[in-house]
Amino acid sequence: MIFRQLFDNASGTYTYLLASRRGGEALIIDPVLERVDRYLQLVRELDLKLVKAVDTHLHADHVTGLGALRDRTRCITVMGEQTQADVVSMRVTEGDRIEIEGLRLDVLYTPGHTDDSYSFVLGDRVFTGDTLLIRGTGRTDFQNGDPRAQYDSIFNKLLKLPDQTLIYPAHDYKGDTVSTIGEEKLFNPRLKVKSADEYAQLMNNLKLPNPKMMDVAVPANINVGLRQEEIARKGWAVTAAEAMVLRGRADVVIVDLRETSERERHGTIPGSLHAPYPDLREHIGAGGMLRDLAASTGKRIVFYCAFGERSAMAVQTAQDAGLNTACHIQGGIDAWKKANGPLAR
Ligand SMILES: [Fe+2]
Repeated sequence: MIFRQLFDNASGTYTYLLASRRGGEALIIDPVLERVDRYLQLVRELDLKLVKAVDTHLHADHVTGLGALRDRTRCITVMGEQTQADVVSMRVTEGDRIEIEGLRLDVLYTPGHTDDSYSFVLGDRVFTGDTLLIRGTGRTDFQNGDPRAQYDSIFNKLLKLPDQTLIYPAHDYKGDTVSTIGEEKLFNPRLKVKSADEYAQLMNNLKLPNPKMMDVAVPANINVGLRQEEIARKGWAVTAAEAMVLRGRADVVIVDLRETSERERHGTIPGSLHAPYPDLREHIGAGGMLRDLAASTGKRIVFYCAFGERSAMAVQTAQDAGLNTACHIQGGIDAWKKANGPLAR
């Protein structure tokens, strides 16, 4: 496995780049905007293909690199379903898996630092965001933080992992890089409490100043979505209502770019084909399934996904590849559901 822990001095943030092999797909956790060039250089040097960029929660101390990485690599952006971010490509929840070639992150919902805080388990290690830090825990006094929820996340979820599990947090300000569950049980001073009430009292009396970047970072991180209007302006988008009319037509094929788990949870547009976004280039390249379908039947391809981000990027990729009737459903299955479109399960 390729595993890189990268550090941003200005915010004390750790960013993790993961891949199962050189030349394979990669995933990045908690990227910092100012470091995006460095990440992409490393991705090139290791001959990787960045396919997913994940934030553990909506950060208050730095601007996320999610949007910039998506715009520069057309990767999928991922956050928890509670996030206030306007649009991310894919939202996950407890029990989901975030997969790339050869690697699987198991998703744990660990609120408390914020109400959209998640942890991700990868085999022998866990990425704890700002929920559990090395000899500390993330503050709980803003962004819908809740010390009791955090106590539950830590004591009833994270500390239930095997003692030897490695902890990789989102921040450290003392120079520590990694710990274990067993070590934190013994030596983390915040965990020397006997109850959720005692923990809440401790956390409610920290009297910390707000992060320096908070007034800039939070609004920027909420407005992370891809500007789908650009695609609409080019005439490459249809509304959910327009898509409902197109759905019955013989010269139209509707293509779902989401992953199987999303299809199972949220349902699909009846009659649509499944072609997951990571395989898009293959499907629209020479000899690809979608290219052949469009060429042999003259069908117009209408892409959709969860919120319209992957499908907007897919339209651009398809148009670049010469499929000039391709379009997408703006707002994805989310908009389709709001317009009372029929669903298949
Ligand atoms: Fe945080």
